[in-house]
Amino acid sequence: MASITIRKLDSKTKQWLRMRAAKNGHSMEEEARLLFDQLQSNEISRQALPAGNFDSPSNKAAGVKQKTNSKSTPKAPSKTAPFSSEVLAGKNILLIISGGIAAYKCLILIRRLRERGARIKTVMTRAAEQFVTPMSVSALTAERVYSDLFDRDDEHDVGHIRLSREADLVLVVPATANLMAKMAHGLADDLASAILLATNEPVLLAPAMNPMMWQHPATVRNMRTLADDGIYSIGPGAGEMAESGEAGTGRMAEPEEILQAIEAMLDQRPKPLKGLSAVITSGPTREAIDPVRYLSNHSSGKQGHAIALALREAGADVTLVSGPVSIPNPLGVSVVRVETAEEMKQAVDQALPADIAIFVAAVADWRPAANADEKIKKAKGKSPPALKLMENPDILKGIGNRTKSRPALVVGFAAETQDVITHGKTKLEKKGADWILANDVSPEAGVMGGDFNTIRLISESGVEDWPKLNKQQVAYRLVDKIVGFFDEVVIEV
Ligand code: C5P
Repeated sequence: MASITIRKLDSKTKQWLRMRAAKNGHSMEEEARLLFDQLQSNEISRQALPAGNFDSPSNKAAGVKQKTNSKSTPKAPSKTAPFSSEVLAGKNILLIISGGIAAYKCLILIRRLRERGARIKTVMTRAAEQFVTPMSVSALTAERVYSDLFDRDDEHDVGHIRLSREADLVLVVPATANLMAKMAHGLADDLASAILLATNEPVLLAPAMNPMMWQHPATVRNMRTLADDGIYSIGPGAGEMAESGEAGTGRMAEPEEILQAIEAMLDQRPKPLKGLSAVITSGPTREAIDPVRYLSNHSSGKQGHAIALALREAGADVTLVSGPVSIPNPLGVSVVRVETAEEMKQAVDQALPADIAIFVAAVADWRPAANADEKIKKAKGKSPPALKLMENPDILKGIGNRTKSRPALVVGFAAETQDVITHGKTKLEKKGADWILANDVSPEAGVMGGDFNTIRLISESGVEDWPKLNKQQVAYRLVDKIVGFFDEVVIEV
């Protein structure tokens, strides 16, 4: 299917189209298509359009262009508010901690939530107090901890109802089999269960229990009931249990995953990239020397994963092709795990066509020419084996220089230890990218595996210096820039 792109609409027209689209519950693209249909069938008169826009001399010159597969020039950043991670700022979260060994992870979750500006009140069950102390919870939340349904100080004004209503979200971490069974049956014999029965706010559970308890028909039944009642849950995952020798499904979701689920539930931001698809590579690749050894690098995947999540939050349909990393999958993103550069290339090809392609992975440039079937052995008096290397496919270069089905926006990273801009410009040219995000990865910069990045965005129109930002901030700034790029009307014809 071909498509046309209308670029350079003036801000008044864009605003008018955006308002019209929002009012009718359409994307800008749908709204523009509808307008063309209506114009064509004379359902609307030209006077209904904003004055002097579609046929103003400047727009005439720009014309309605056929969208080509050639490289596109980045536009000025969008005038809309920057896309950022402020979902949790000022939000009230009621955290219910029930009695399981995973309760200690709550302390990390509380810190992450507070870093993002959320206010947290906590209710602990009696059993929870066996695992973490109210003192630690109270110190981290900077609030008193509630635990007694018949507290004289609180219940004079039916405090459990108040607590249940003033939160934006009720969170149960960990959610034990017992507490969930009580919820499923509407029991309310302590403060936690009374709140869960009284609340009219969304509830998110993070179940954690022994695998046998999780599989028990009673728990399965209760979970189904809770889902039918509109209760959300995240996890549990599979893995080792705290009890020695026990493994299986029942391990509570990690704090980062719970955090993402909370953000997704409370996210009411606009979705400016709705209807667009993106493919992103992230992390290192591993190139086998023999069954136990490999060549790789220090890439953590933090930057690529953060971009995938930020794109998802902006409404894009995202496929993340990730090398081996130890960070959790971003929520709501389709993740393809790979090991080698060859596998990464195949996975990217499969994810195409896409509107946006971002190559963040630190792909190994070379792989051993031979991958030994057996472990290469040392032998006395024998010199070390020579490692013969061969070149890996350059995934970005292949996609950037495509003439057919090239994504509308192709972005690469250039990790350099010297002459960052010169090398970045060369890569922009050679790899056929629209933008290169160049950064200094010399060990003293601490970028590889670290949390911060100092980016220079190189495009045909010049170099943009970004300040030192953490990797989430880099992701949001890039997404904001992408929103600006697509802030034009693309119509499939
Ligand atoms: O390794 P190099 O500095 O050339 O990487 C620059 C960009 O190219 C990065 O965006 C990286 O993800 C991409 N790349 C790739 N395939 C390779 C090597 C690099 O996609 N084999």
